[in-house]
Amino acid sequence: MTHASDNAAGSIGIFDSGYGGLTILRQIRQYLPEYDYIYLGDNARAPYGPRSFEVVYAYTLQAVEALYRRGCNLVILACNTASAKALRTIQENDLPRWGGAKRVLGVIRPTVEALGDITRTRHVGLLATPGTVGSRSYELELQKLYGDIRLTSVACPMWVALVEYGEFDSPGADYFIRKRIETVMRKDPEVDTLILGCTHFPLLMEKITKYTPPGVRLVPQGEYVARSLAAYLGRHAQMRARCTTGGTCRFLTTESAETFRRTASIFLHKQVKEVEKIEL
Ligand code: DGL
Repeated sequence: MTHASDNAAGSIGIFDSGYGGLTILRQIRQYLPEYDYIYLGDNARAPYGPRSFEVVYAYTLQAVEALYRRGCNLVILACNTASAKALRTIQENDLPRWGGAKRVLGVIRPTVEALGDITRTRHVGLLATPGTVGSRSYELELQKLYGDIRLTSVACPMWVALVEYGEFDSPGADYFIRKRIETVMRKDPEVDTLILGCTHFPLLMEKITKYTPPGVRLVPQGEYVARSLAAYLGRHAQMRARCTTGGTCRFLTTESAETFRRTASIFLHKQVKEVEKIEL
């Protein structure tokens, strides 16, 4: 199936397994408010973190293609697990079927690029899903860019669930958040920078900050991904011309539209109106 004739301009697609990508969307819209966006959360199948490579790849491809079919030419995987387990394969194996006119970008590379200027001790901690940690994608990107940075990774299997199931503010969340931060600091007390390597984690920021030792800098990804997208569009005039500029944002979810509308409004600090439930 080729879609080479499909050259029309469209919205920028932002995909996550659930609500986490909203933290990326928020920053991208601050940097690039002029573009149109379609956000897709696969809430019905979140979390992706514990799933195998094959399953994360299959789910992510379905989501990316759903966004392409809705006119997007550029899709951002606003999800580390999908970026770690599916990005490369989609870029290499699946994009050619779309006639070479579509692109997909991830969130790991822009985050790693930013680290060089942030850490002073060159000891960095990574908090992420089991899928992202197991993929070793951060280590591989770090080796390419900064051979002198030592990474200590800790999987946080419960954190995405705390967000997806509305427990982000509950006293129970404190236990799981504190435990994982203490684990990183125990493994490497010289860590001065903690990457929040899952786009859901900024939604737990209040509690994460509470248990992070003073002097350790937290690195959420939204700002770096937004800056990197702005630079990408600056370098690629052809793609820029294929992104429409009406300043709108539509929301799609694979779960209940009403639940998404309510929860996303809390996370975005503003009323989300148009939400459509879709099947992948
Ligand atoms: N926001 C996704 C990430 O950045 C969460 C993955 C999940 O669904 O477990 O990894």
